[in-house]
Formats: sequence, structure tokens, C-alpha cells
Amino acid sequence: MSANRTIDGIKACVFDAYGTLFDVHSAVGKHRHRLGDSADQVSVLWRTKQLEYTWLRSLMGRHKDFWQVTEDALDFAFDMHGISDPDLHKDLMAAYLDLDCYAEVPETLATLKDRGFRLAILSNGTPAMLAAAVKNAGIEALIEKNFSVEDVGIFKPDFRVYQMAVDGLHVRPEEIVFQSSNAWDASGASAFGFKVAWVNRFDQSRERLPGQPDAEIQTLADLPTLLTSA
Ligand code: LAC
Repeated sequence: MSANRTIDGIKACVFDAYGTLFDVHSAVGKHRHRLGDSADQVSVLWRTKQLEYTWLRSLMGRHKDFWQVTEDALDFAFDMHGISDPDLHKDLMAAYLDLDCYAEVPETLATLKDRGFRLAILSNGTPAMLAAAVKNAGIEALIEKNFSVEDVGIFKPDFRVYQMAVDGLHVRPEEIVFQSSNAWDASGASAFGFKVAWVNRFDQSRERLPGQPDAEIQTLADLPTLLTSA
């Protein structure tokens, strides 16, 4: 993508959680020695299946919360790699409540808050998962609200999920800039009507989906200079 233009008229910055603020692979990272050579493959498959299950459950109209979906995806990844280790399963799930946040996150959020932007999270995570992740990452004081899909009972990118931030913050969709490293989530949020900065942490190609991001950045540290307030 060519140089980004500024994103103007913003009142609130809303962030995806997993992969954007929190490093999902840090769960396996903490127990890497117990997984040996398959550690990275298990971590990628766990994440891939977790997301697939959210989309498929939404299509089937059979919602279960993200904690259950995350456990089911880990079961699948263990099965595929012939791993049967209940203690490791338990420890990996516990690690999901204590994920590392990306290095630039605390300072970037503090900068944005100082500039008067309202800050919120909008995520597939359950309220309990989000509360734990935010607390353990030490960013609790910076976040005004965690919006969880559990309030609407369907996963992203259903538009009812994005609508929660509009209703909850009492701002118009175009006054929100939404950040996600998940390109499909960036597309969904843009198609809904948010301004969107895609955090392309993993150097991915753009999605061929409705909704294109207004900006593409490498890390959240690139965000503050892009924004002007309403
Ligand atoms: C979330 C998923 C998309 O936090 O990572 O909503």
C-alpha cells in the first residue's frame, strides 16, 4: 500500500484483542520446551482452528463462547499432532489469560489517551478472558471498555458485533478508527463503516473481501501520527 493519508475526525480508537494487542503465540511460547519441534505448528493450527470454529459456529447458528472454542481448537491441534497431555492442555489454556502484549502497546495506548481519544477493545473474547488479558498486560487503566461478542452471541465479522462499539460509545461509526492485525476483521470493520487501520504485523497480502482498510501499518506505534480528532 502506498503512503497512508491521515484518518480524520476520530473520537475513539477501538482495538481487536487477539493478535493485535496480545500475542496469541506467546501461550505456546511459554511452554515451548514441552512441545518440542512441533511447537510452532501446534500454535498456528490452534489459532487457525479457533478462528475457523468462530466463523463456522456463526454460520450454523450454534454459538459457544470463545473460551470453549479455544479449548476445542486446542483439542484438535493436539489430536493432529498425536499429543495427549492434560496438564499441558490446562497450562496452555491458563496461558491464554496471561498473553504477552506486543511491546509497543502500553506506550501507544498512553499516547492516544493523552491526546484525548477514547480507547476500547472489541473482541471475540469472553468478558472474563478480556478482563484477565488486559489486567495481566497492565493496560487496564488505559481502556475505557471491553466489548465482548458474548453480548450479541455471534462472532466477528457479523455486523452486530461492530455495532456494539457504536451503541456503547455513543459515537458514529466513522468517528471510530478500528485496529486489527486480522485482515479479515479489518475488512469486516471497514465494510461495517468504521475507519480502519490494518496492523499488518505478519506481512500478509490484503484480503479480497468487501471493505478495505484506510491505512496499513506495521505496528501500533505507527497509529498516533495518522490520526486527527473530531
Ligand atoms: C478477536 C479475535 C479476532 O480478538 O482475535 O476478536
